[in-house]
Amino acid sequence: MKARVATRAFFISIFIPMNSMNTFQSKLPNVKTTIFTTVGNLAREHDALDLSQGFPNFEADPHLISLVDDAMKKGFNQYAPMQGYFGLRELISEKIESLHGQQYHPDNEITITVGATQAIYTAITAFIHPGDEVIVIKPAYDCYEPAIELNGGIPIFLQMDAPDYNIDWDALKTKITQKTKMVIINTPHNPSGKILLESDMLRLQEILKDTNILVLSDEVYEHIVFDGLQHQSVSKFPGLAERSFVCASFGKTFHVTGWKMGYCAAPANLMEEFRKVHQFAVFCVDHPVQRALATYLRNPEHYLGLNDFYQKKRDFFLKGLRGSKFQFTPSQGTYFQLLDYTSITNESDAKFAKRLIVNAQIGKYPHILVQCRRQG
Ligand SMILES: Cc1ncc(COP(=O)(O)O)c(C=O)c1O
Repeated sequence: MKARVATRAFFISIFIPMNSMNTFQSKLPNVKTTIFTTVGNLAREHDALDLSQGFPNFEADPHLISLVDDAMKKGFNQYAPMQGYFGLRELISEKIESLHGQQYHPDNEITITVGATQAIYTAITAFIHPGDEVIVIKPAYDCYEPAIELNGGIPIFLQMDAPDYNIDWDALKTKITQKTKMVIINTPHNPSGKILLESDMLRLQEILKDTNILVLSDEVYEHIVFDGLQHQSVSKFPGLAERSFVCASFGKTFHVTGWKMGYCAAPANLMEEFRKVHQFAVFCVDHPVQRALATYLRNPEHYLGLNDFYQKKRDFFLKGLRGSKFQFTPSQGTYFQLLDYTSITNESDAKFAKRLIVNAQIGKYPHILVQCRRQG
């Protein structure tokens, strides 16, 4: 009798979890494997040049690597303060003030994050409630939309079109409703390579005046700007800075995307809420790398020289493309360059991208090609 009871209990304990496993409801039902992973896998399979993801193919400065090594040897191997190492926050504050004339107090207005991605996710999570609308300008980097949806928010899209990829500010104004909580901007822009001009920022400032709408400004390519153009940070514009989260990436700036190091700067009242989420999402960020960056950042040459450094690479790349059937407008910033392939084929972007990988061993990001096609 006892043995029978035990057997039944065994079956029940197996079947109940199996049933419940089948009834979960995905929070992101439309999200599939990212295009970066799909193209990256295909590129590896065909031994193709992988251009699908935004990272450089050269090494970081050995001096920076030795600074991390030193920090580890000096014993900075335990948790850093929740908001980040003060010395690094202090230097970020000085850097922003010298470049954009805006003061962010290192104590309560700057937080070190796991790359810009965590800064973006944290800002959205801290402020977006179910039903809130967030204006997202398309094409857009792919982490904004899922973060909004996971928090019950509603992304409201505004499309930019080829070949200019200008933001239609009048159209943006018409998207604003009582429910609009945030606008996300990205300059320099992935994937179009466009940068927002001073006139764009002034227009946005004017549109948002007299509203409580927040701005999330993704500025990860702030130091990759070409042809003498100037990066226009939201922090330069007082009416924007007072409502904005500036999200930045040391990974992009110092060619160490694998370190996933970034920061968020925002006024104290916004940063207070940001940190409430940050402390439970990650608590703190890689300590020895923060110590190393705090030394490395003391020399402004490490970031001020990057515009020229990358412009030479862009120009070299475009020189190689001249004479091909690709048409293009030179990118104004970022790692990205859009190409119009309409005089080569009328295949879909995905088909052409696959053919480039398989036949020409070039792994391209099909989304970029979608934008290219619209140029034609
Ligand atoms: C526009 C944009 N924002 C954010 C990120 C992510 O930055 P991080 O690696 O610092 O998280 C990327 C990476 O490609 C990007 O292109």
